[in-house]
Amino acid sequence: MSILNGASLIWKLQLLVQNREKPWGRKVPIRKELKFGKILITMKVFKKDRRKVDSTKMSNSKSKAITIATYDKDADMFDRKFNRLGARKADINKAFSYIKQKGPFVFELGCGNGRDAKEILKMTDNYIGIDASKALIAKAKEKAPSGRFETADFESYRFPPEIDIIFAFASLLHTDKESFKDILNRACRSLNKGGVFFLSLKYGQYQEKIQDETFGKRVFYYYTPELVKKLAGNKYRTVWEDIRDLRGQRWFIVTAIANQTFSVSGLKMW
Ligand SMILES: C[S@@+](CC[C@H](N)C(=O)[O-])C[C@H]1O[C@@H](n2cnc3c(N)ncnc32)[C@H](O)[C@@H]1O
Repeated sequence: MSILNGASLIWKLQLLVQNREKPWGRKVPIRKELKFGKILITMKVFKKDRRKVDSTKMSNSKSKAITIATYDKDADMFDRKFNRLGARKADINKAFSYIKQKGPFVFELGCGNGRDAKEILKMTDNYIGIDASKALIAKAKEKAPSGRFETADFESYRFPPEIDIIFAFASLLHTDKESFKDILNRACRSLNKGGVFFLSLKYGQYQEKIQDETFGKRVFYYYTPELVKKLAGNKYRTVWEDIRDLRGQRWFIVTAIANQTFSVSGLKMW
């Protein structure tokens, strides 16, 4: 093995070790330069992140715990509220209209009490819904007994393969943009070619907002369609967008097709 090959192997091993998740805290990369005569070696070293956390912002795990505790504690109230609002029949039909085959595999992120699952299950029996609130998952199982439901966190859940449609109705608004980007990437790997990602979010400049209501606190993240598209990169192609004002809040919907070839002319790309 030449000296150069040996050095590059050591460098790669070093990066592998440094990039591992460290149990004792987050590390940030810092560029370091070493000069030996005319040879300059640039290295990436990892140091403990000593930046102060913005005290007005919560860590993602803390905000998640607060939000889920509220959904769990007041599951009866949310169940009544979601039932009053009813299922999103038109949106569900819209997403299904992009899929040709019968009985597509549908995966729902943050399915809540199963109000939409009940409607989706009329169009396919191949459905999995996940939600981090155990109490809402119990409601969903009652409401749509033929569905498969799991109490799980969409930020860490291993998405099943060969999905045709992913629905995320008003659920990714509880996740920050780093997790959002990761979810879009993982979803893309799990969606079939031409599979659909249908999501709805609160419209606004990206920010974290703590909503403190009589029944408890929830942490929301506001997005714009532009930011969602930026986070998605070139993995998806938008096929339908909508902006709606509902009960004093502006919402938007993005429907995107995953894993298509990007050379087709005349199509709008993300
Ligand atoms: C506004 S509710 C919408 C529920 C349902 N999609 C609907 O529209 O009726 C947000 C849902 O996302 C769930 N959720 C929030 N963060 C989550 C996470 N990290 N993993 C899974 N579910 C989550 C909540 O428990 C809640 O059921």
